[in-house]
Amino acid sequence: MATYSQTILDDVRAGIDIVDLVGRFVNLKKAGVNWKGLCPFHAEKTPSFMVNPKKGIFHCFGCGVGGDAFGFVMRQDKLTFPEAVRALAKQANVALPEDRTPGDSGREELVRAMDLAARFYAEALAKPGGARARTYLEGRGVDPEVARRFLLGYAPEGWDNLRDFMRGEHVAEDVLLTAGLVVKRESGSGGYDRFRGRLMFAIRDLQGRVVAFGGRALGDEQPKYLNSPETPLYTKGNLLYAADVARESIRGKNRALIVEGYVDCLMAHQYGFGETVAALGTAFTPAQLGLLHRYCDEVVTFFDADAAGQKAAERAEQLLEPTSGGAAWAVNRSGNFEAPGAFRVKVALLPAGHDPDTFLRAEGAAAFTERIDQARSLLAYALDRVIADPEGGAGPRARANAFARAALMLAKVPDAQEAAALSRDAARKLGVDPTQLWIEAQKLQAALRKPVASAAPRAELSRPAAASTTRERDLVTFLLHAKDARPELLPFVEVADVRDERLRRIVVALAARPEAEAEALMPDLPDEGTRGLLAALLVEDRAPENPAALVGQFRVHLEREQRLKRQRELARRIADDQATTGQAAAVHDDQFRALHAESKIVYGIAGGVAQSLEHGPRGPQGVETNE
Ligand code: UTP
Ligand code: MN
Repeated sequence: MATYSQTILDDVRAGIDIVDLVGRFVNLKKAGVNWKGLCPFHAEKTPSFMVNPKKGIFHCFGCGVGGDAFGFVMRQDKLTFPEAVRALAKQANVALPEDRTPGDSGREELVRAMDLAARFYAEALAKPGGARARTYLEGRGVDPEVARRFLLGYAPEGWDNLRDFMRGEHVAEDVLLTAGLVVKRESGSGGYDRFRGRLMFAIRDLQGRVVAFGGRALGDEQPKYLNSPETPLYTKGNLLYAADVARESIRGKNRALIVEGYVDCLMAHQYGFGETVAALGTAFTPAQLGLLHRYCDEVVTFFDADAAGQKAAERAEQLLEPTSGGAAWAVNRSGNFEAPGAFRVKVALLPAGHDPDTFLRAEGAAAFTERIDQARSLLAYALDRVIADPEGGAGPRARANAFARAALMLAKVPDAQEAAALSRDAARKLGVDPTQLWIEAQKLQAALRKPVASAAPRAELSRPAAASTTRERDLVTFLLHAKDARPELLPFVEVADVRDERLRRIVVALAARPEAEAEALMPDLPDEGTRGLLAALLVEDRAPENPAALVGQFRVHLEREQRLKRQRELARRIADDQATTGQAAAVHDDQFRALHAESKIVYGIAGGVAQSLEHGPRGPQGVETNE
């Protein structure tokens, strides 16, 4: 159960984009208000896994699992609820009570310091002192508009410019140290500005918060780029430069361009390639590719023609590292592939000596597009390299070696179609029988393949509700969606009368916190099955069209149910009395009168229902009058 306050849980929930979160593991496609993909918790071939970004929940119509962001990471990463809260709080930059221990500067303070620093640098670029940096940018052909969009800045010469500014903003020295903006002096106390006399690139996370900086030397000083150290806000290899700016464009084009440098990235945007991100010097990591896969199916990277083979081989190694999504193809018994959503990584070649920045400026956008159109699969390059292994030498042993290495690589290729095509190609080049190579790859894959970490599909959860609980389900759905209706209806809902156990638990949670958003009830629910049901009820975004009318109808229905119940009880009591006393019915006159009165009310109410349904033959949507 929740040990964190509702406010904190709400803050965390608000700071997490569930499409982003789930999209790290599932390739999601927009489907109306929801996003849709293959369920990560059971094996399926057609997507029945839905994510509703507005409500912050997910639900699988195939296996019935569902929940909010907390529930997702609990399941995906096998965490307890408090662990999930801590993990997501970190991502959402929400400070938890335990983060605020003395001496430990909280994340909020770090975020503020980084934001202030970014503004300080940006302003310095515009000031007279920034003339040299502006000239440098002009020399490299960067538009001032692009410079603004990317929050470029200038760190002035001198040891204390930022420190002095931050003192004025009441940012403590230890926050600046933790943020990596200030470096501790080796002797004595205090510190000095890390970035001095450099052009500043602000690295932002997906929420647009500045989490790190890269500072380029304006001359030949070393290092050429000085970067922020890792901090509580910034882990190298988890972020992509410009991902916040490029995200929409990547979604729209279903493609990302991934370049190495800051300037390559700026320039690509300036030339109209808004789907460009930079990997920031590091070879791209599975985490970065995972991030891109949330938004698109294809990534194009750029290699200098001379280095392509070598680099492709290196990248392929990193790329094919076994992750949760890796090594997953197999041929099923009917001979078809069971492949997860494919993610293509391609290589576009640039002439020797060029990077995207210099190429764009020399040849323009059309030539760049042409290179992209000619891009080939990264794995194809890598495989060529594996086959033509320069260290393998010649002769039969070298060939056997190349065969084994090719098979191993093919075994790791996650997309089955691609694996098959590559395998044919490789077999031809190796001069071996394609089937032989394919079988070898499959054997290796079986060995590599980890047991599937999914629960067995729980069909009973997705089966349509029994007819007797349809009305209950409608009522609970309505109560979840129409907050205003709760005070009017909840007093009439007899918890014990709710037949379906999970609906009953939801009603209990609702009654305990009638003012809460429906999705915020998730942590209040005691079990997985109930959370799954709540998600199922929320994922269909059916805002009632005429809530007032529905309130009236449900209320009538509930009152009638209660009276019927009383009537049944009364009838039973009379029958019991008669059985034990043997007395005639007339003796129970008053009880009969009460029963009669109840019946009249029940019938009267029934007439009321008929009247209120006059404006629609079968009642408004979502309400079935199955009585
Ligand atoms: P490159 O050395 O290829 O430089 O580094 P570049 O991007 O073409 O830089 P310009 O065009 O000369 O300005 C590629 C990327 O590697 C990282 C930076 O992110 C850089 O953009 N890098 C490079 C560093 O972090 N530190 C360095 O010292 C050099
Ligand atoms: Mn460059």
